Amino acid sequence: MKQSSTTFGSKFGLVAATVGSAVGLGNIWRFPAEVQANGGAAFLLVYILCICLLGIPVMMGEFALGRGGQGDPITVYRRLSPGKPWWITGLLGVLASFTILSFYMVVAGWTLEYLISSITGSLYEHVAGTADGSNAQFAQRMSEYVASPVRPVLFTIALILINAFVLIRGVQKGIEKMSNLLMPVLFVLLLIFCCVSLSLPGAAEGLNFFLNPDFSKINGRVFLDALGQAFFSLSLGMGTLITYSSYFPKDTRLGRTAVTVSMLDLLVAFMMGLVIFPAVMSFGLQGESFEGATLVFVTLPEVFAGMPLTRLWSILFFLLLLVAAVTSTVSLGEVAVACLHDHFNFSRTKAVLTVMAPLLVVSPLCSLSNGVLSHITIAGQTLFDFMDNFSTNILLPVGALLMCVYLGWFAPKGFLRRELTNDGTCRTFWSAASQILLRWVAPVLILLILVSRYL
Ligand code: PHE
Repeated sequence: MKQSSTTFGSKFGLVAATVGSAVGLGNIWRFPAEVQANGGAAFLLVYILCICLLGIPVMMGEFALGRGGQGDPITVYRRLSPGKPWWITGLLGVLASFTILSFYMVVAGWTLEYLISSITGSLYEHVAGTADGSNAQFAQRMSEYVASPVRPVLFTIALILINAFVLIRGVQKGIEKMSNLLMPVLFVLLLIFCCVSLSLPGAAEGLNFFLNPDFSKINGRVFLDALGQAFFSLSLGMGTLITYSSYFPKDTRLGRTAVTVSMLDLLVAFMMGLVIFPAVMSFGLQGESFEGATLVFVTLPEVFAGMPLTRLWSILFFLLLLVAAVTSTVSLGEVAVACLHDHFNFSRTKAVLTVMAPLLVVSPLCSLSNGVLSHITIAGQTLFDFMDNFSTNILLPVGALLMCVYLGWFAPKGFLRRELTNDGTCRTFWSAASQILLRWVAPVLILLILVSRYL
């Protein structure tokens, strides 16, 4: 097991890379869908509570493990608790990240296809300049596209190659440089969309839905959905943040960084709400489903079709989506790459190729499972859905639960405090608070998420 000596080159780069991992499809399409399904602003409030109670402390825990243990998730547990089976928790994380990667690459490939067809204009070819009545066309296009056997597979492969390119260049020259460039682009694009959306006629109605809480809508289900969303959105529970934080310099203030990253992730989700709800209400499309891929690949193209400068908005939006997706897939890929690098002393290039090679088989299979291979099922689900549900609903919460139990009860004495206070050189409110939250609150809440799936 090597001692990692790689670090991020700057504080900005470190935050950009970590926010890049957190901000992804989870913020852009999952969050608005959850808000719509769970009563608007009431969900938003509960979500913020979940970020503070669960998200920030668990993120701090992951940061402490990564920076303190200096390695990939498996190495970290083996180094901190040698001879104990805790490394299995790390292994679970590596498995989860690979599983998520296999279907996330497919969706990332769709965004590239939609970006290109916005540039060429073919996405809007047969649609008149109005939102009315175009739904059926966009919906049909989407369902035909994801089920077709060639193009989605090619775009998935293209995404795998882009990821391989970034990962081979390494932590500073690949991941950090990409994040330094792309994260500001993402925020600028979002800001532009917020301005456009808020200036649409009828925007107030959308804002009202998003920002006026109706407390009667809050129930147990809303809490559980908000918890699950906080988890997925902050990239918790699968070792991504452990891996990234092993590249944090020794003087990084972990508490402060976790708060910054979580708040920026929340900000992106919030801004996405400011974009989606006014736009959708202003075009009278609120009755449509926000579920899954529909919102970004059907409803939004409808909105763009009804606006002047249709193609410009469409290009910018799918660019935004692609940026968000790529910075997340790179972070997922880095988990397994770091693992091979640490354990088997693989060179970076060899490690990246070893991770990407099986992905070149599994991801296309996931893509084909939406079409020609849809008759092959695992536990009654297509391969795509199985990978999604198994990782998000099982591997991820189980991994995070074990991590909290480890940090709260079994980690070396004083480990968390030492890491969060940088060996006692800085005082932090979070050190004491996270100890309690990780010991008592987070495990109970995560267990609830897990159990809720089976109720
Ligand atoms: N947080 C990412 C999103 O919001 C998804 C992700 C999960 C990325 C886990 C890395 C690790 O889309």
